[in-house]
Amino acid sequence: MSGLIIDNISMRFDLPNGKSVQALQNVSLDLKQGELLAVLGPSGCGKTTLLNILAGFLAPTEGQIRLGGKRVMGPSPERGMVFQQGALFEWMNVRHNIDFGPRMKGMPRAERDRITDHLLETVGLHDFGEKAVYELSGGMQQRVALARCLANDPDVILMDEPLGALDALTREKMQGLVLKLWKETAKTVVLITHSVEEALMLGERLVVMAPRPGRIFREYRLPFAERGVNMDLREVKRSKGFAQTRDEILEMIWGMEEEIMGKRDSA
Ligand SMILES: Nc1ncnc2c1ncn2[C@@H]1O[C@H](COP(=O)(O)OP(=O)(O)O)[C@@H](O)[C@H]1O
Ligand SMILES: [Mg+2]
Repeated sequence: MSGLIIDNISMRFDLPNGKSVQALQNVSLDLKQGELLAVLGPSGCGKTTLLNILAGFLAPTEGQIRLGGKRVMGPSPERGMVFQQGALFEWMNVRHNIDFGPRMKGMPRAERDRITDHLLETVGLHDFGEKAVYELSGGMQQRVALARCLANDPDVILMDEPLGALDALTREKMQGLVLKLWKETAKTVVLITHSVEEALMLGERLVVMAPRPGRIFREYRLPFAERGVNMDLREVKRSKGFAQTRDEILEMIWGMEEEIMGKRDSA
């Protein structure tokens, strides 16, 4: 079992003009293996910075990340990343995108093919292994991105707005797929989104962040992701508790944005 511990992280960027930005301040969270955390908040509140620190792309100015008791010191296949879009290798077919990690590790062909065939099936692309990336729709490309991440068998999956570029219908289908993969693989997932509805639907744990300095503003434990595993997502979204929580969070974020605008006006 490998819990993910975010231990009092702060991140300050020093700018060339001598000023600095406090992108994160005293952020702490303790995730158990298999938990799905959604991170929501207005633009500029430090979501991407937090994910980059979790991935090991950035070192925090204070605090540390631990996974399974070990301190995170840089990128590693144990922490897989799924980006918004356009991060596939355009010159490789779908199969070779998915089995890129295992190939780099020198895994024998037969074993790689077994894993890739299984993943193609899991993400609903069984007939698409030999297709080129450009032949696929945006939603299908994100299915490939998910499969490519899973092929490395990471402990943690980090996603920065993975469904942000998709149309509403495709996005909803993909939310169902994320829930299915989360349940089937029992991976720890951290998903960033600026859609309140998506955060509610997918985040069995949800943190709302506030900007200037970037910090955790509110934390929720929600029943909707668990419900969505066995139930139609539309139905879950129509339930009473869902709408209430959505309104509460929308109000919270509007409040933050008004405050930011106020600060800008008076600046
Ligand atoms: N490399 C960087 N250098 C300077 N400032 C940065 C850098 N990366 C992010 N920031 C600043 O840190 C804050 C948080 O950014 P970011 O994590 O991208 O927010 P979000 O993803 O929530 O929109 C913003 O004010 C942004 O301008
Ligand atoms: Mg961002």
